Amino acid sequence: MSERPNVLVTRPIMDGPLATLRERCDVTIHENEFGIPREELLQVVRGRDAIITMLTEKVDAEFLSAAGPGLKIVANHAVGFDNVDLEACTAAGVMATNTPDVLTETTADTAFALIMAAARRLGEGERLLRARRPWIWGPLMMLGQDLHHKTIGIVGFGRIGQAVARRARGFGMRVLYTDAVTLPPEVEAETGAERRELDALLAEADFVSIHVNLTPETRHLFDAERFRKMKSNAVLVNTSRGPVVDEEALADALSSGEIFAAGLDVFEKEPEVNPRLLELENVVVIPHLGSATVDTRNAMGALAVENVFAALDGKRPPTLLNPDVLGS
Ligand code: DGY
Repeated sequence: MSERPNVLVTRPIMDGPLATLRERCDVTIHENEFGIPREELLQVVRGRDAIITMLTEKVDAEFLSAAGPGLKIVANHAVGFDNVDLEACTAAGVMATNTPDVLTETTADTAFALIMAAARRLGEGERLLRARRPWIWGPLMMLGQDLHHKTIGIVGFGRIGQAVARRARGFGMRVLYTDAVTLPPEVEAETGAERRELDALLAEADFVSIHVNLTPETRHLFDAERFRKMKSNAVLVNTSRGPVVDEEALADALSSGEIFAAGLDVFEKEPEVNPRLLELENVVVIPHLGSATVDTRNAMGALAVENVFAALDGKRPPTLLNPDVLGS
């Protein structure tokens, strides 16, 4: 019988981190590109010492009990961990970790790409050319919104929100933020950001970029009432989690001209995309690519593996989410 720890990885990850994991562990990778159906997941988790999960798997009491008492860690291969029930992990004596920091700049780049694409109608322009429709340069053709020297409102001013603020400063933008906490003066000074309550931010912002975690409080934070408070030239970008935005209300706001445009990396019922949004020209949609670069996926994989090794060695993983588990 093998003495090596038995690890499940629920979706193929980058080769480098995988090779590191294989040096010490017996690794099973689930190869289905659309993820593991729940019933099958509950079978394949059984008897594992560690599991590297994706944001698409729900880690709850049922999952943990299916895995059994040998499970030491669930290492989520994402910074977001709304798919992981931390209380259930702690109750089961299982450490839970995520992959913060290593994806901050890449995700901020994606947010900025969406801000620019939505403001300057890049998706619409590309679709026009690909459809081989006739066109000629004209002074009124496909006019968008300027970014430079406009106001951006950042909703959720953690690591990624602050990285977006630094980019916005490079474009000469005025930066507002809203967050549960007021930031230390040095962070406000470095990012040049001023704090506002959410509704006041929406009334002033030409661009709104969402960077909150998904929690019961932030589900549908952007609903019909919030869209009414936004400016008609406003561009909304979401690279956090889809359910923070009520997509039906967003489709209404975009089609009525209540707001100018939206850029979405994440969706309310992911991977499904609301068909009304797909019909609209003034929305840019991409399939949850926020952290999808070679370097960042290598770094996320490496951090997940480092967390697994620490847990297997009985040490505190670097990005432990439920430190209470150590006392349990
Ligand atoms: C995350 O890490 O939470 C992103 O959504 C995917 O990288």
